[in-house]
Amino acid sequence: MKYRITLFLSAFSLLLQAQTPVYLDPSKGIEDRVEDALSRMTLAEKIDVIHAQSKFSSAGVKRLGFPDFWTDDGPHGVRPDVLWDEWEQAGQTNDSCVAFPALTCLAATWHPQLSSLYGRALGEEALYRGKGMILGPGVNIYRTPLGGRNFEYMGEDPYLTSRMVIPYVQGLQSCGVASCVKHYCLNNDEEYRHQVNVIISDRALHEIYLPGFEAAVKEGKAWGIMGAYNLYKDEHNCHNQYTLNKILKQDWGFDGVVVSDWGGAHDLDQAVRNGLDMEFGTWTDGLTMGATNAYDNYYLSKGYQKAILEGRYTTKELDEKVRRVLRLFFRTTMNRQRPYGFLCSEEHYVTARLVAGEGIVLLQNDRNVLPIQPKGKKILVVGENAIKMMTVGGGSSSLKAQHEISPLQGLQERLKASDCQIEFARGYVGDVGGSYNGVTTGQDLKDDRSPEELINEAVEKAKTADYVVIFGGLNKSDYQDCEGHDRKTMDLPYNQDKLITALASVNKQTIYVNISGNAVSMPWRKQVPAIVQGWFLGSEAGIGLADVLLGKTNPSGHLPFTWYENLSQVGAHSFGEAAFPGIWREGKKIIDEEYKEGIYVGYRWTDMKKLKPAFAFGHGLSYTTFKVSNLRSDFDETTDGNMTFKVDVTNTGDCTGADVVQLYISDVKCSVDRPVKELKAFRKVMLKPGETKTITLSTDKRALSFWDEATGGWKAEPGEFIAWAGDSSDHLTCKMKFTLK
Ligand code: GLC
Repeated sequence: MKYRITLFLSAFSLLLQAQTPVYLDPSKGIEDRVEDALSRMTLAEKIDVIHAQSKFSSAGVKRLGFPDFWTDDGPHGVRPDVLWDEWEQAGQTNDSCVAFPALTCLAATWHPQLSSLYGRALGEEALYRGKGMILGPGVNIYRTPLGGRNFEYMGEDPYLTSRMVIPYVQGLQSCGVASCVKHYCLNNDEEYRHQVNVIISDRALHEIYLPGFEAAVKEGKAWGIMGAYNLYKDEHNCHNQYTLNKILKQDWGFDGVVVSDWGGAHDLDQAVRNGLDMEFGTWTDGLTMGATNAYDNYYLSKGYQKAILEGRYTTKELDEKVRRVLRLFFRTTMNRQRPYGFLCSEEHYVTARLVAGEGIVLLQNDRNVLPIQPKGKKILVVGENAIKMMTVGGGSSSLKAQHEISPLQGLQERLKASDCQIEFARGYVGDVGGSYNGVTTGQDLKDDRSPEELINEAVEKAKTADYVVIFGGLNKSDYQDCEGHDRKTMDLPYNQDKLITALASVNKQTIYVNISGNAVSMPWRKQVPAIVQGWFLGSEAGIGLADVLLGKTNPSGHLPFTWYENLSQVGAHSFGEAAFPGIWREGKKIIDEEYKEGIYVGYRWTDMKKLKPAFAFGHGLSYTTFKVSNLRSDFDETTDGNMTFKVDVTNTGDCTGADVVQLYISDVKCSVDRPVKELKAFRKVMLKPGETKTITLSTDKRALSFWDEATGGWKAEPGEFIAWAGDSSDHLTCKMKFTLK
């Protein structure tokens, strides 16, 4: 009897196996499942999965059990749902999210583990919302402080960007939600993003603008890349043989999907042959309307299917695209190991607060005006940015936050139990628009008073205040750190310079908190004792800022970009129009923008030109002090650049705090010109008063290499190098020489 049962069961399991097709068998490898599914798909089904069917979704394969595929913005929170084929809000009641700090703040933490937490939290929110792909992170380099979307990116340095993007991608994808690293590549400004053709040396391309993407792909194992709107070598980056076929897929071995930016595809033949896998948003410029329900007319839609049936193409390119899309499905919507999603969990708010607290940068603190001692004091809070909702605006990354604590609310919350009086004065009026893309802020910021009246009111109140805390900066409205436009100037808008100068002249305890994603000119900075860079901090902005201002959090953020005095210190603005914003070609369809400063971006430029910026790349103060000393290595010569440096960090002050130790490398002699120094390692370290820690910083051959244009590869020339260590690019307190044999 027992034998018969065993026989029956094994027969039944064989039958079952025979029934379960390979592509549905989780015990089979993804590649086998991809091939099996591909072999079962019709031509129409293959065409369906490589282009959008709605604003943010593309088709699955219903007959085979593949669900539709949903993407959504953005890098710092999951966008509220829009209608099927409209940009307007769907008016859902279950899509209010946690708005995390924008990525400039994440980069300013210099803390890769936080980036992993961030990616995981965002992935859980995306899972809950049924999204298979988040359209982020953005890793375009800050070439100019006018860049409209810099707030969505990770700063000017390719190494910092590389180290911070990898854990974000891994954290996000650990939820079975694909990242879609953008905007690949050379989309470094906004005004003419659809028409710009970037002209750039191979060295600058590979040494500055590609490393963030390369790290995301090769180390982060990103499952998606978004092609950028602009052109390179006269081909749009959403279907570009150089950047997609050659560099991304061939050289880097990318096995994920290339998604077009919304409206970034422009040509059938290029879309077929030059590396595009999923076409979204055609007929729109990504921000405004286009042809309604154009999906059948997309390049990779019925037209492509017809061209195949007419024999203009085989299914070779189509099958390659579909393989990548199926691989994406098995990693996401068909992945049974995915965790559960959560929306607005306490852990996500904790993550947002942690990133805010560790990303806020204390730029200046003369006379230790900060932290504020509130007991028995009167604090005057000034500025529209103290009350304005900032989780909306900025373009496609705009969010519908479950809540947002403003800077004023944060201070009121944190001081509600202390005998401290808080007053408010508007100070200036900026953008009083109350809604973005259908998300209404519910705020009525209208104020008809004149700039003079507003300043006078603030100044009068400041005369009797113990502290004046000004929240100013930019506000993610057009031309003020927003997609689709670049800023026209580095100056603060809305008469803020005048306001700040007037307040500092009547109150010696004036603190300026700049809310932005970019540097701004601060001609008054010698008159203002304390200056804080506050970023776009999302849902917990007010708490993050109040905790730093009141000393509950000891600031440990360091600048991920150079804070120039003004545009005359910027490489991109030192070569006339041709370098920025570019020169229009005949017919004004394409504008050629030549990156004439080459590899000299950010501190690489100010070092080379011996310019002193307002605040240096890597700069960030603390409420305590540190000493970085005794840089050493076991060897002073290396054959492969794999070096382990040790350096001692001491907390020489009287409160616990974290410092960011940075290691820069100089190539003393080289056959090509090289920057004075380049960031090649860093570590954030927490220290108690008086405590010393020895930390280890490692490099590899890439840290010594430059892109050799002759051979099209990385090259390190033997000879002398110098390693520098410190806690800012302009505060390197120890060095050692070593030789590459
Ligand atoms: C936009 C943006 C891109 C965004 C996409 C979808 O134009 O450039 O970052 O993800 O369209 O909104």
